[in-house]
Amino acid sequence: MASGAPSPAAVDALDSRVWPRNCVRDASGVMTVAGVDVRDIARDFGTPVFVLDEQDLRSRAREYALAYREAGASMVFYAAKAFLSTAVARWVTEEGLGIDVASGGELAVAMRAGVPGELLLMHGNNKSEEEIAAAVDYSVGRIVIDSFEEIARVAQAAAKAGRVQPVLVRATVGVEAHTHEFIATAHEDQKFGLSAQGGAVEEAVRRIAKLPSLTLVGLHSHIGSQIFDASGFQIAAARVVALAQRIYDEQGIELEELNLGGGMGIAYLDSDDPLDVADMAMQIGDIVAKECADAGITVPALAFEPGRAIVGPAGITVYEVGTIKPVELDHGLVRTYVSVDGGMSDNIRTALYGADYTVRLASRSSMAEPMLCRVVGKHCESGDVVVRDAWLPSDLAPGDLLAVAATGAYCRSMASNYNFVPRPGVVSVKGGDVSTVLRRETIDDLLGLEPTT
Ligand code: LLP
Repeated sequence: MASGAPSPAAVDALDSRVWPRNCVRDASGVMTVAGVDVRDIARDFGTPVFVLDEQDLRSRAREYALAYREAGASMVFYAAKAFLSTAVARWVTEEGLGIDVASGGELAVAMRAGVPGELLLMHGNNKSEEEIAAAVDYSVGRIVIDSFEEIARVAQAAAKAGRVQPVLVRATVGVEAHTHEFIATAHEDQKFGLSAQGGAVEEAVRRIAKLPSLTLVGLHSHIGSQIFDASGFQIAAARVVALAQRIYDEQGIELEELNLGGGMGIAYLDSDDPLDVADMAMQIGDIVAKECADAGITVPALAFEPGRAIVGPAGITVYEVGTIKPVELDHGLVRTYVSVDGGMSDNIRTALYGADYTVRLASRSSMAEPMLCRVVGKHCESGDVVVRDAWLPSDLAPGDLLAVAATGAYCRSMASNYNFVPRPGVVSVKGGDVSTVLRRETIDDLLGLEPTT
């Protein structure tokens, strides 16, 4: 056994913190999700394939809706950028969430799913006039104003539609949060929103208040992603509440709503330990209540936009192993490169952010000694890595299926056609049944983009 190697049993185990709630090995050792054998999914739908555990996703949506309502939220929006399809739009709204859309495309999916406009919120730092008009025409509940230009654009679209559009102003509060750490600065050097310092937000509020086709509902702040505790929200809430207080003092405008964005983290590895949903909600609610009491302002209704935390843990990717290549390193060490039939085109997060994932042999159980592997894709780049360091059984063979956990968020939604590779399909499983959420792309789909001559 290589030094530091985990036991065969550990390499075979499916930790419930990381894998979907209905993902287990059956009596013969094959991975099943909601009672469906992953080998059957691979055979019927091809690989790579994303598998969504519907009941898991729905239960997380329900937990967020309940916990954050309990903590003072009037609305919890699912951040569609994490992953969106009409099925997912229906599930999350049936479980009590609204949807945060950040483009005309995401809006179109929500519309096709029949999500009522009042359950939608639209984001974007450069919404096109078409996107704004589509949102206004569909009577979306909130548009988040991200720049001075946008005030006039949204006002004009609303006036044209004969509508008064509710808006929020996005404030950048100088907090960048990630897992346990956050950085707090006076200004944020980034493209979103208006700085909470220096009067830009106050000026936006002044301009909005003069426009009859807009109604200002409140402020918005989003501090980052994959956040494990409430400490970053503490600073953000203090700064937005101070802003709300200044707006009230200077302009007599009382803001009804404070949207604190998304970013609630999930476990990708069994060592990841994000705060429990209800605890995080309660802590944020308490923080805002205290800040408002200190500032002497009424506590506004809260709103949130979790994306990853709803869909991330509910999804896995199933790949087929193609080639296995031991590569000798210095000092006589060997690293085994396991190539799968996807890669950076279906999961860019490892290459882009250095993200870590958990991978398991899925088509069978094995008690062979673990070997240190790097799971890589089939693309023409050495950075095409799915899991940088993984222990897998040493009897791994071409044709075996591997499953990567917690790929429900920001994998299919950030997928590309690099190397003209069709993007994988997405299936959902529930009570032993499989349904297509998105079919796999075909090369003909891609060829169809070219004009026919
Ligand atoms: N609200 C706003 C305004 C956002 O910008 C985002 C994410 C969310 C909500 C949802 O954040 P979540 O709860 O999913 O963390 N592609 C990156 C994440 C980018 C997130 C961008 N904004 C990743 O794969 O980690």
